[in-house]
Amino acid sequence: MKKEEKNVKITPYEVEGSLSEKDYNNLIKQFGIQPLNPELLNRIKKHTKDLHFMLTRGIFFAHRDLNWLLDEYEKGNKFFIYTGRGPSGNTHIGHLVPWLFCKWLQDKFGVEFWFQFTDDEKFMFKHDLSLEEVQKYTYENMLDVIALGFDPKKTHFLIDTKHAGIMYPEAIKVAKKITFSTTKAVFGFTNETNIGSIFYTSMQTVPCFLPSVLKKKNIPCLIPLGVDQDPHFRITRDILPKLGYYKPAIIHAKFLSGLKTFGGKMSTSDSDSTIWVTDSPEEVKKKIMKHAFSGGRISIEEHRKLGGNPDVDVSFQWLYYFFEPDDKKIKQIHDDYKSGKMLTGELKQYLIDKINIFLKEHQKKRELAKKQVDKFIFKI
Ligand code: TYM
Repeated sequence: MKKEEKNVKITPYEVEGSLSEKDYNNLIKQFGIQPLNPELLNRIKKHTKDLHFMLTRGIFFAHRDLNWLLDEYEKGNKFFIYTGRGPSGNTHIGHLVPWLFCKWLQDKFGVEFWFQFTDDEKFMFKHDLSLEEVQKYTYENMLDVIALGFDPKKTHFLIDTKHAGIMYPEAIKVAKKITFSTTKAVFGFTNETNIGSIFYTSMQTVPCFLPSVLKKKNIPCLIPLGVDQDPHFRITRDILPKLGYYKPAIIHAKFLSGLKTFGGKMSTSDSDSTIWVTDSPEEVKKKIMKHAFSGGRISIEEHRKLGGNPDVDVSFQWLYYFFEPDDKKIKQIHDDYKSGKMLTGELKQYLIDKINIFLKEHQKKRELAKKQVDKFIFKI
């Protein structure tokens, strides 16, 4: 391995430090995933007519078996999409990255969407959370998914403890094929890990093939996710062909940074570094102004003279990843900040306004979602 090819430690339960573009490139080799190249983007565009900015800007940067998925689609074998949430707290903006993309996929391909809420996972992995608290967050997180506008007729929520009756018989078929030594190698488990955690990855595998079980025919599955979740599905992909099902295809997103550290994964344990979807406009303003890591210079004079660095600026990254989909505007902001024409305070204020407009709408929609929850929960 060359000196610059350091392995980055990423599992669903630990993301070490901050990640540069080089780290994401190394991760492609380390995980054995494929980069999303222009040919593949063009192939997607053939079906969708336009491309989501998260694809053209490289926020979704890698995949597994997307060409196969499109081959099947072109033969008339329509896929479904599957993603999920471990309800250990309220939703933050980072969680919305893969979900917003799922909404685009559902609209463009008209596909079924399965969403798993892993209350069992978070109960077993988080020592300080009771099952009641996890279930309260499950409800709160469901509102955020519904608020993004998914089609209730084509969207199905699975809640692990609630749907155990249909999920458990499938999970044990998966579990029978996973050894403790595999989970140790993939997730870093030890002899002190509780046995529920060791079993858990079998539950996250079930939605990849549950629709095939229910429909009694093999249906391709596409999983949009943050790259930290890939290790679960590496195991899944080894096992499903042995059970007679397709391997799921995957599309991987980079992490939206926490406010304090550029390139780090936003953490649910540091509220100052995180914008929750339930934050008030004042909280948003305070957090961005005080904590968003800046690529600006130490004085206005120096900034005007030398310019800022958008490539390490969290506010710019948030606009690029999520809050400014307009390519012309994002380029203008990039250039103005880099030349020193735009100051850090102005960049932060632009982001604050964008976040608050988004959250005002989102909070209204999540209130309305309270009446819709039942429509989304899968009926056995
Ligand atoms: P969880 O709840 O940790 O995260 C939910 C989804 O959000 C992604 N994510 C992020 N994406 C971009 N930037 C960030 N800062 C960021 N933080 C989190 C995660 O990668 C994930 O896609 N075990 C899972 C729940 C799950 C699941 C799935 C996820 C069940 N089935 C299938 C993806 C696909 C979990 O605890 O995710």
